Amino acid sequence: MHKVIYDTDPGVDDAMALLFLHRHPEIDLIGITTVFGNASIETTTRNALFLKQEWDIAAPVAKGASVTIDPSRHERPWPTMVHGENGLGDMPVPDVIDLPLDPRPAYRFIIETVRANPGEVTLVAVGRMTNLALALKEDPEIAKLVKDVVIMGGNFYVPGNVSPVAEANIHGDPEAADIVLTAPWKVVVIGLDVTSITTMSRSYLAEMAAKGDKAVKQLNTLSQSYIDFYKHAVEDGMMVHDSCASVYVVAPELFETITGAVRVVCGGIADGLTVIKQDSRRFPPGDWDGLPSQVVATGIESEKVLSLIRDTLLRV
Ligand code: BDR
Ligand code: CA
Repeated sequence: MHKVIYDTDPGVDDAMALLFLHRHPEIDLIGITTVFGNASIETTTRNALFLKQEWDIAAPVAKGASVTIDPSRHERPWPTMVHGENGLGDMPVPDVIDLPLDPRPAYRFIIETVRANPGEVTLVAVGRMTNLALALKEDPEIAKLVKDVVIMGGNFYVPGNVSPVAEANIHGDPEAADIVLTAPWKVVVIGLDVTSITTMSRSYLAEMAAKGDKAVKQLNTLSQSYIDFYKHAVEDGMMVHDSCASVYVVAPELFETITGAVRVVCGGIADGLTVIKQDSRRFPPGDWDGLPSQVVATGIESEKVLSLIRDTLLRV
């Protein structure tokens, strides 16, 4: 059984990944931590509570960071054209959800849960890496106690999606991402190299919804405007970014990977660019020496990933 804390900014594709984590029989979802990103922290936290309530998810929700780790960074506008004004594709969501939050801030929830389950917790982080970076700053020893970290973020051999060189989750807090990627723990990076070629068509989703329960039908509803947004890049469908990271937890064999030190460019025209120095390459001694070797996905069996998502979402 994989014990997972899901760090998320719901978010249309975040919602699908959440249902996958909730329904997969080999995953024990032990916590949901929220972060700003696809909408404000108030909105992403409200959305997490909404999905918890609607889908009867037992895991507690802890509210996380509302701004970047470096407070001098300018706030970027919320991506309402992607995830709607309310972060869930503008499907109707009540303003207030009558469920309690975990009393701890997300970074503290992460620290205490990892310490209570040494060597067992996988962090699946599919938003800005701010909560993870705050947890590392507060308690660096957790790096040794976490089983592994799987992130959706970055791009290595394909262009970015919010700038010519950067992907949204990294670009939204580059300093936090650099802290997470250079910490002495195992990070698996599931970036645009694999998520941008893993797309779900409108009809695939509709067929799933027809066979599925209320939750799958809701996913179909909240994904419609997301699919409309993607028409510049996908033919009547959407990229399923965050679900690819969730799938990696149970099916790493569906991914091709390379290993090496990973850094994030912080500032300038390449702000948020992720760079790997592959272990197989030799360079003169320099800044890359001594950094931990991380795992970066460069290939994916998309059809099998989509089937696994569909089969898991349709389990009740
Ligand atoms: C990432 O950015 C967000 O819009 C999605 O939820 C995903 O985590 C893709 O770049
Ligand atoms: Ca996300």
